[in-house]
Amino acid sequence: MKSATFTMIRPDDWHLHLRDGATLQAVVGDSARQFGRAIIMPNLKPPVVSTDLAGAYRQRILAALALAKLPAGAFTPLMTLYLTDNTTAAEITRAAQSGFVYGVKLYPAGATTNSDAGVTDLLGRCAQALDAMQEHGLPLLVHGEVTDPAVDLFDREAVFIDRVMIPLRRAFPGLKVVFEHLTTSNGVDYVSDAQGPIGATITAHHLLYNRNAIFQGGIRPHWYCLPVLKREKHRLALIHAATGGNPRFFLGTDSAPHPRGLKEQACGCAGCYTALHAMELYATAFDSVGRLDALEGFASRNGPAFYGLPVNLGCITLEHTAYEIPQELPMGDSTVVPLAAGESLPWRLREAHA
Ligand code: DOR
Ligand code: ZN
Repeated sequence: MKSATFTMIRPDDWHLHLRDGATLQAVVGDSARQFGRAIIMPNLKPPVVSTDLAGAYRQRILAALALAKLPAGAFTPLMTLYLTDNTTAAEITRAAQSGFVYGVKLYPAGATTNSDAGVTDLLGRCAQALDAMQEHGLPLLVHGEVTDPAVDLFDREAVFIDRVMIPLRRAFPGLKVVFEHLTTSNGVDYVSDAQGPIGATITAHHLLYNRNAIFQGGIRPHWYCLPVLKREKHRLALIHAATGGNPRFFLGTDSAPHPRGLKEQACGCAGCYTALHAMELYATAFDSVGRLDALEGFASRNGPAFYGLPVNLGCITLEHTAYEIPQELPMGDSTVVPLAAGESLPWRLREAHA
């Protein structure tokens, strides 16, 4: 019997870590098979703090795509700058006029992987850069967690809304803001009710898992990411938001490859590798509540609408058939373990038309 299929407009990934060098070369094909475009995170070592560095990084990504023998134009990297206390208004203007920078990423200093050069005092230190972004319509992409050690890890997003997001958007009401990798019902409520230009990305792992996944049968480092997985009630709020048809919510995998050894050690890195099977994971999450019909809006339409871009021309087809997630994949001189390695998903990406 022929299995059921589901065809939709080719999706985009509005939050992706591709890294650099051998890691970039190893992972870029996975995203290109799944997505038409991706917003590329700038948290390299050293970070991508200028338009020139973003342009050079873009060329390295295009070269990696060519080396992987992917057809030209099959996958478009949309570059970002890494906001620091020293980002100037002139640099923002250069980025906005470059034609290849689509956003500026806010990492609160110390919040996550490679965030040491991040912002220490957003309104105090970055007002001129934010003003220029507002003027040019260049979105601010926000890692929304406070770093105050007195705030519980699981409350960092909710506290960020009160301490940073609300004052930021009061000071810059016309600034386009993406609340990245939303993880709580507090975040969903805020983004749903807020005035003005705001959107939010949601990862597949935050739709599929609650924080029990990190501790099921032992400590499981491949389920550890930042912001960390939350309680079940938050997962349900995210599912409701992603499948509810509100165009403010769109797909962002936050796929973040780390070598296996750096995840499986005494102090393991944060990040889940989901680029390999992103649409399989999202389809599983949407299908779990009978809402596959809402996947195209979330994955293929809402992001382009927010960023002012056309939707992709091609399609992808998902097939309702078991997909076994590999145990690990080669990555440079190491390997990367995809999320839920060894498990089976009910949907498989069949073919991608460029
Ligand atoms: O889990 C995460 N990994 N969260 C981030 O914010 C950064 C990312 C990474 O770069 O590894
Ligand atoms: Zn990220």
